[in-house]
Amino acid sequence: MPLRIARQPCVGTSPSVLPTMEIPMTTRRRFLTSAAIGAAALAAAPLVAQAQLRPGDVVPTRGTPGSRSLPTNATSSGRWRPQAVTGFGGAPIGNHFAAASEADAQGALEAAWNAGARVFDTSPWYGLGLSERRFGHFLSQQPRDSYVLSTKIGRLLTASRNPKKTGWIDASPFDYRYDYSAEGTRRSVEDSLQRLGVSHLDIVLVHDLSEDNGDIGARWPEYFEQARTGAFVELTRMREEGLIKAWGMGVNTPEPALRAVEVADPDIFLLACQYSLLDHERALAQTFPRLAERGISVIVGSPLLAGYMTGRDRYLYGPYWTLPGGMAAKRARANEIAAKHGVDIRTAALQFAAVPEVVSVVAPGARNAAQARANVESMTVSIPAEFWVDLRREGIISADAPVPD
Ligand SMILES: NC(=O)c1ccc[n+]([C@@H]2O[C@H](COP(=O)([O-])OP(=O)(O)OC[C@H]3O[C@@H](n4cnc5c(N)ncnc54)[C@H](OP(=O)(O)O)[C@@H]3O)[C@@H](O)[C@H]2O)c1
Repeated sequence: MPLRIARQPCVGTSPSVLPTMEIPMTTRRRFLTSAAIGAAALAAAPLVAQAQLRPGDVVPTRGTPGSRSLPTNATSSGRWRPQAVTGFGGAPIGNHFAAASEADAQGALEAAWNAGARVFDTSPWYGLGLSERRFGHFLSQQPRDSYVLSTKIGRLLTASRNPKKTGWIDASPFDYRYDYSAEGTRRSVEDSLQRLGVSHLDIVLVHDLSEDNGDIGARWPEYFEQARTGAFVELTRMREEGLIKAWGMGVNTPEPALRAVEVADPDIFLLACQYSLLDHERALAQTFPRLAERGISVIVGSPLLAGYMTGRDRYLYGPYWTLPGGMAAKRARANEIAAKHGVDIRTAALQFAAVPEVVSVVAPGARNAAQARANVESMTVSIPAEFWVDLRREGIISADAPVPD
C-alpha cells in the first residue's frame, strides 16, 4: 500500500496543506532508497545552546532524510499489530509542560500525517479531554480505516466550574475520578468516541494504573484488582465482539503489565519510561521477553525521555522520576558520538526504539508541525553502523541491545 509522504515545504508551526508524493511502504527492516523528503525543519543549533531550548523548539534532523522508507510491521497470523510503526503521541497537544495553540496542535497532527505517521495515541487524561478533541478535529476528517487510533480508560471526566488543578496547562474544565470497572470502561470509551468524533477505536489501554502515578502510588494493587475483574474483562469482550482490535495497558512501570499478562489476555502495551537509547536494560532482560512469549507487542511511549533526549532539562515526568546518576554524561557523550557520525541523537533514539521485534509502534510526542515532521523524517535517515559500534563500545547502549540494520 503506498503511503503519502509530504515534501518538506516550509518551516513554521501553522497548519498548511502540503504537497505529497507517493513512496512505497516496505516490510519492516527492509528499507529502500526513496526520494529525499527534504531538509531539516530548522537550521542546526549548536548543542551548547540546548540549555536555552524552550517548549516547541526543534532539534533538527541530521543525516539524509529519505534514504530509507518508513518501517512497517509485517503481517502475521499472531496478535493484531498496526501496519505502521511510526506513531504520534498526544500528550504535548494536551498541553503537557506548556500550552500548545490550536494552530500548533492541528499543525502537528497534519504534519505527522503528511509525513506518514499512521498510529495516533491519546487519552482522556491529556489536558482533561483537550488532546482527544484536538485529535478528533483532525482525524475525523481522514478516512477512518487509514489510521490506527489508540486511547485510554481509567479516568472519567465531569464538567466543573472550579476544576481541581492538575499538571496540565490551561486544561479543559473537567474534574476526574478513577474508575477501572467494566461500567467505567464502557462510559470512558463512549465519552472518548464523542470527543474524538469517530465511529470506533482500534486500541484501548488501561491508563496509569501504576505506582508512579501520584494519585495511586502504593495502592496500585487495589486498583489493579478492580481492573482485573472490570476493565480487563470488558475490553476482552469488546475485542471479541469486534468493537476494538486490541487492548492492553498504558503504564510507566513494568510491574502492572507483567501482572496483567498473568491474569488476562491483553494484546499490546504502551510502555513509557522503559525503553530508550539511554535506558533499556531492564526492558530487554525482563519485560520484553515476558511479553514476546505471549505474542504481545509494545508501543514505545516517551522514546525521547519526554524531551530529555532533545536537550530539555527535565527528565521524564515529575517527582517519581529523578535523573539517574551518570545520565547527563551519557547524553553528552552520545551527542558527541552522533555529531562525529553526522547524525543527531533524537533521530538515533527514535530508530533505536523501533528495532526490537516485540515493538510494534514508536510514538513520540510533538507540540507543533516542525517537531512532528522532524520526528517522522528521522525514521527515514540511514545511520552509519559505526555509530552504533561506538555507542556500544562506550557502554551507552548495552551489549545485547538490537540496533537498526
Ligand atoms: N502511561 C502512558 O500511557 C504514557 C506515558 C507517557 C507517554 N505516553 C504516550 O507516549 C507519547 C510520547 O511521550 P511524550 O510525548 O511524553 O514524550 P517524548 O515523545 O519522549 O518527548 C516529547 C517531547 O520531546 C520534545 N520534542 C519532540 N519532538 C521534538 C523535536 N523534533 N525536536 C525537539 N524537541 C522535540 C518536546 O518537548 P517540548 O514540549 O519541550 O517542546 C515534546 O514535548 C505521549 O505523547 C503519549 O501518547 C503514554
